[in-house]
Amino acid sequence: MKLPSRVKLVDVGPRDGLQNEKQPVPAAIKIELVHRLQAAGLKEIEVTSFVSPKWVPQMADNAEVMAGIARLPGVRYSVLTPNLQGFEAALLSKPDEIVVFGAASEAFSQKNINCSIAQSIERFAPVVQAARAAGIFVRGAMSCAVGCPYQGEVTPESVSYLAALMKDIGVQHIGVADTIGVGTPLKVQRALEATLRHFDINDISGHFHDTYGQALANTLAALQTGVWQFDTSVAGLGGCPYAKGATGNVATEDVVYLLHGMGIETGIDLEILVDAGQFISDYLQRKPNSRAATALLNKRVNG
Ligand code: HMG
Ligand code: MG
Repeated sequence: MKLPSRVKLVDVGPRDGLQNEKQPVPAAIKIELVHRLQAAGLKEIEVTSFVSPKWVPQMADNAEVMAGIARLPGVRYSVLTPNLQGFEAALLSKPDEIVVFGAASEAFSQKNINCSIAQSIERFAPVVQAARAAGIFVRGAMSCAVGCPYQGEVTPESVSYLAALMKDIGVQHIGVADTIGVGTPLKVQRALEATLRHFDINDISGHFHDTYGQALANTLAALQTGVWQFDTSVAGLGGCPYAKGATGNVATEDVVYLLHGMGIETGIDLEILVDAGQFISDYLQRKPNSRAATALLNKRVNG
């Protein structure tokens, strides 16, 4: 199996990571985190979401965070927009990319965005149209592509169904998300294959939470399927407020270590990335949730 020689990572820590924190994280800390991620070489950062502050209070400072970032050329800054109201607010912040997020499970769609899958697509369609008219790239996310906290099993057919709907409304790139981190490699490959019926391999990314410790294995399985783009989260931050018990995304540091060890380029400086993870973990008063970061930090102390 031929593996890609280069991989693109999207750090979703500032959004997926921090949306789930109990304690408020000031905008200045989020901005500093974004600055540190871009200094580490990340070329795409998912900064925030323009969702209802009643649903996700941690993202209420979305406009302030976007306004505070000293943008670097060549870096894309993406934001989540669940509806036109969110998109119109996001537009003022000039994102390079927006993300509409649906679910392959009806139950999760209701819990997360308060509507059915079909209704979500009706809401997304004008968002996608407006974004593309404004020259903004549109990514879609498919939550619960391998398992749902409310309905359990999710079939590849459900993934294929949602991927087709996303494609039809003009979504340009699709993320296959294991929201609750229950997937194992063959299940993930089947979800990716279902997505491949509708999207080109170059327009698919993997988004794996690490609740059951499978995310690195799932990443490798996705690489073997030809996927070369992944969402990861510095220091393993994160989870979804509507997926109880789910932990963060696979740590960016761990994925970078895996990829570099396999001779796959990322353009990321692992040491600077570890510092970024340490910065946000210090603020949150815990250790980075990354084995590679922990090992490298120990090595700095112990040699
Ligand atoms: P709703 O209550 O059905 O919306 O929520 P509504 O249209 O009936 O509006 C109700 C109120 O919300 C109104 O305010 C609106 O103005 C306001 P009121 O009149 O009551 O004062 N509102 C908004 N405010 C700000 N921004 C908006 C917005 N829209 C309505 N965009 C809605 C529907 C989608 C808004 C809500 O369910 C919501 O915000 N959900 C967000 C959930 C979320 O952010 N989840 C986490 C992100 S997804 C994720 O983490 C998964 C991912 O990582 C992939 C994976 O791992 O699976 C991407
Ligand atoms: Mg997620």
